[in-house]
Amino acid sequence: MKVVNRHIGGAFLVWTLAVQLVLCESGVPTTDGIKNCKLYSDSESERKVLNRLAPLAHRNFTIETKNEAESYTYVFQLCGDAWGVPGAGVVQVDNTKKETKVIGMYNATQAYGGSDWVILIYRDGEAYDGHCSKEKRRAFVMISCNRDMDVAQLGSVLEDRERNQDCFYLFELDSSAVCPPIQSQLSAGSIILIIGICVVAVYLIGGFLYQRLIVGAKGMEQFPNYAFWVEVGNLTADGCDFVCRSRNREEAPAYRGVATEPLEEEQEERDDHLLPM
Ligand SMILES: *[C@@H]1O[C@H](CO)[C@@H](O)[C@H](O)[C@H]1NC(C)=O
Ligand SMILES: *[C@@H]1O[C@H](CO)[C@@H](O)[C@H](O)[C@H]1NC(C)=O
Repeated sequence: MKVVNRHIGGAFLVWTLAVQLVLCESGVPTTDGIKNCKLYSDSESERKVLNRLAPLAHRNFTIETKNEAESYTYVFQLCGDAWGVPGAGVVQVDNTKKETKVIGMYNATQAYGGSDWVILIYRDGEAYDGHCSKEKRRAFVMISCNRDMDVAQLGSVLEDRERNQDCFYLFELDSSAVCPPIQSQLSAGSIILIIGICVVAVYLIGGFLYQRLIVGAKGMEQFPNYAFWVEVGNLTADGCDFVCRSRNREEAPAYRGVATEPLEEEQEERDDHLLPM
């Protein structure tokens, strides 16, 4: 019966450890939102950069520009249909003519990043009519770290098309998503120590409750795996006895008897100092 209890206790310990591991592992960010983006030339490093942007997915970011004659609204969405236009990552909406132009497609994405910034490029937009050797439009979105921005805001627009090739629209976006993670103040050693203490605490409390409530143990028996630990204690003591003790226990009393004489001598010697010279 005892052996069965010990097995149940062991299973309980494994279970609590498993629960702790699961609790530790949750908190990994999901990358669902960016799975629609297709990299122009697939690479592991660009995919990693793209993963950092995952918190920005499923949102329209807009900015309006105005001059005397024209008014445009630009809409950017990360790996989703901006302004509802299929495949478009950035669109330009002409507010007077009510026309939309695709600036870049999210199935032609490039992504590069540094420690606190990411530049996202959507290629394959609608071709220019006269400028830029009639090449396809491109959108550059410069995303910079800003820890104060919970909700990112699309910033200024710059269009560079007075050139023969490599024209682009440049957008700015401030977001906390691309900020480097704040360095933990705890060293690896102290984290391991804390985890160790937690595991021991969970083992003791869980085991105690298990023994008390389910097995119905009383007194010292309430300690988890009591019989096992008693055995461990005894074995350790035996081991210590064997390794540390220099002579047999049986010999010890005889030796102590011999030892009394020199001890008394020493006592007398010490007393001599107290006598007046
Ligand atoms: C983005 O805007 C378009 C057009 O207004 C809308 O159809 C779409 O639902 C919006 N998407 C999100 C995630 O807000
Ligand atoms: C992106 O999708 C469009 C149609 O939605 C297609 O014509 C184009 O070839 C695709 N581009 C790439 C790079 O796959």
